[in-house]
Amino acid sequence: MTKKILILPGDGVGPEIVAQAEKVLLFLIEQGKLSVKLEHGLIGGCAIDETGSPLPDETLKKARHSAAILMGSVGGPKWDNVDRAIRPERGLLAIRSELALFANLRPAYLFPQLVEASTLKKDVVSGLDIMIVRELTGGIYFGMPRGIRELDDGQREGFNTLVYSENEIKRIARVAFETANKRRGRLCSVDKANVLEATELWREIVNDMAKEYEAVELQHMYIDNASMQLVKEPKQFDVILTTNMFGDILSDLASMLTGSIGMLPSASLAENGTGMYEPVHGSAPDIAGKNIANPLATILSLSMLLRFSLGEEKLAKKLEQAIDLVLTDGFRTKDIYSKGMKSIGTNEIGDEVIKALTSLLV
Ligand code: IPM
Ligand code: MG
Repeated sequence: MTKKILILPGDGVGPEIVAQAEKVLLFLIEQGKLSVKLEHGLIGGCAIDETGSPLPDETLKKARHSAAILMGSVGGPKWDNVDRAIRPERGLLAIRSELALFANLRPAYLFPQLVEASTLKKDVVSGLDIMIVRELTGGIYFGMPRGIRELDDGQREGFNTLVYSENEIKRIARVAFETANKRRGRLCSVDKANVLEATELWREIVNDMAKEYEAVELQHMYIDNASMQLVKEPKQFDVILTTNMFGDILSDLASMLTGSIGMLPSASLAENGTGMYEPVHGSAPDIAGKNIANPLATILSLSMLLRFSLGEEKLAKKLEQAIDLVLTDGFRTKDIYSKGMKSIGTNEIGDEVIKALTSLLV
């Protein structure tokens, strides 16, 4: 049976950036390089508008029957005042949780052509290649109890729970050790074990697992120090393993080392092989619909989809090479523009990637 790819453009810049990745997918299908069927669905604010829910049953059903999901971004000021339980972001968290997409891989790779686009000094970031392995379906994002309650004295109190079971820690740690094994063999586990029991256990379990991976050099770092080290000397890192919330924060930080958050793709994987692919950045409502958003994070996410969900390593590499060529040719969206480059729009970057891909596929 032909594999299905579910496309969920979402809100804000989501539809325009996902359209570029979809263009690339259609091109690969047309060229006979890929045999997949594309489906579309609603998630986030646009899904609330249509159905009242940020993750309609129909979307979830389609997702369960897909080999992979390509997602844009969710949220925007239009939905700031909707009930907390049905906020657009809840749709994203729900699909991650429902499909058990616990392993979030966020590579922070600096294309050498973009070294001028980073706000950090050239020698600090050039050659940067980090993989953040973020736990995605547990921790404080999902821990119970949670909520806002009224106290006896009439004031309100907000509360969340940071909780990690041994099995949750083991399965994400395994992904990180395996990833480090395939890369430069260095793993840094980031926690706050000096204060938080949940991450004290995290550290203990990661240490236990290290015995199975003798070739991997393991190190632990507290989140505050890791944030500092990422800015001070980012090239000391190979693979970073961390919790849901710390990973959320560190991946935005790491994106700035690569020039722009518009360059960071991600893969969220389940144990059964299902994968959802999305850019690390948000819906950027302030620039939505203006054809200026950078679609490369989403196109790079497509390349991760080809690699991890379809086993198309060669095509994934070609697509990465095509992006490399586009950057070498000097094409830039605003976020990665530097003097002397050619500033073009979202749609045009998509066209250039296809042109470059055409030259690579012959
Ligand atoms: C991310 C985003 C999400 C998260 C939001 C939109 C819920 O920031 O994917 O990094 O916090 O996980
Ligand atoms: Mg985030």
